Amino acid sequence: MELKGNWRIPTESLAGAGRISELAGRVRDIGVKRALIVTDPGVAALPFFPDIVKGLEEEGIAAVVFKDVHPDPILDDVMAGLAAFTAHGAEMVIAIGGGSGLDCGKSIALAAATSRPLWDFEISVPAPALDRPIPPIFAIPTTAGTGSEVGRATVITNTALGRKIILLHPQMLPWLVILDAELTFGLPANLTAWTGMDALAHNLEAFCVPAWHPVADGIAIEGMRLIKQSLLAAVNDPRNVAARSKMLAAASMGATAFQKGLGAIHSLSHPIGAKFHAHHGLTNGVLMPYVLAYNRPAIEGGIAEVAQSLNLAGGFDGFLQWVLDLRAALNIPHTIAALNVTEESLDFLAAEAFLDPNTPDNPRAADTAAMRRILAAALAGDLSGLDS
Ligand SMILES: NC(=O)c1ccc[n+]([C@@H]2O[C@H](COP(=O)([O-])OP(=O)(O)OC[C@H]3O[C@@H](n4cnc5c(N)ncnc54)[C@H](O)[C@@H]3O)[C@@H](O)[C@H]2O)c1
Ligand SMILES: [Fe+2]
Repeated sequence: MELKGNWRIPTESLAGAGRISELAGRVRDIGVKRALIVTDPGVAALPFFPDIVKGLEEEGIAAVVFKDVHPDPILDDVMAGLAAFTAHGAEMVIAIGGGSGLDCGKSIALAAATSRPLWDFEISVPAPALDRPIPPIFAIPTTAGTGSEVGRATVITNTALGRKIILLHPQMLPWLVILDAELTFGLPANLTAWTGMDALAHNLEAFCVPAWHPVADGIAIEGMRLIKQSLLAAVNDPRNVAARSKMLAAASMGATAFQKGLGAIHSLSHPIGAKFHAHHGLTNGVLMPYVLAYNRPAIEGGIAEVAQSLNLAGGFDGFLQWVLDLRAALNIPHTIAALNVTEESLDFLAAEAFLDPNTPDNPRAADTAAMRRILAAALAGDLSGLDS
């Protein structure tokens, strides 16, 4: 491997229970008087939400709430949010929520800076020129999964194409993140489990990408260790501050690590999510062991090191068994049949997975036929022979 790379360490994060109380002061400190809060209807109805708005008002900041964000936001959500931003004369976006609220808020800020169609920003490097700088974004996650709060990307569904599009601009990196465990207490057990598996998939796939990025690799290993310590506890004991705090950290760390790239778990997860409307973290969780087994020839040594760091005996096999046991304890199914994926859809899903932008980063080359093999194994629930 060539010892060469571009490394980014992201934004300032205020981590700790109760630190949402510092939001208004931080907004004041950057001189903003008018803010748009972006969230979804579920999060807007949570008990802590009115206090956030009140805190801003008490600091003399005029805050308007835009909450018409779909799960897996669509372009119409972003454009409606832009209209609210403009009507309010907002100077910044405060994005609060899971990946959907955060991605929509970040995309509204992007839309405020350009008259181009947003699709022009689909993973385009360098990004097209803006009309003006993207307004400041503060990001406050209420799920511990996507890590969008520390990312420069958003995922917006193009309803005309029936496809999730990744928009990218370096200025979409939030200026400030608040990781407050208390905001995640209300997340139900299933969503805690699924979003946690998304965080695990980010740390794991990033670690497995064959590139020189010791910064990301160190973060990814520690992210996985935190998930091992805390995901089950967060599911079984939802007000456990330590477990919730560690999961928020692990989610941010996963997205920090995946600047290195992801892999076939995400490549396969995206078309299944788009076609069968299953939660992104759930599809990742179901697929994870099959992709690990397929990638084994390329990652066996690296995963053995991870196993050691996580105090798991048995090298690669020990790690795979831990994933299987964790999945079972979280009630995540063993087959994609449980997500209603059918045999007839496998050719389409394999072709889409091959085209996914994450595929070239998978540690073992995966063409359409390989993607179909992994899908067939995941449909049958059979892990044997994938590594050949
Ligand atoms: N930008 C990125 O880098 C990135 C990475 C991975 C995934 N994503 C995107 O993120 C989205 C998924 O995000 P998600 O998994 O966080 O789910 P989500 O944001 O869609 O939220 C799921 C549900 O949980 C509810 N919820 C959120 N926080 C809650 C809380 N504290 N208590 C109770 N309910 C709560 C929401 O109201 C919503 O109904 C997808 O669109 C996915 O494509 C983005
Ligand atoms: Fe993900």
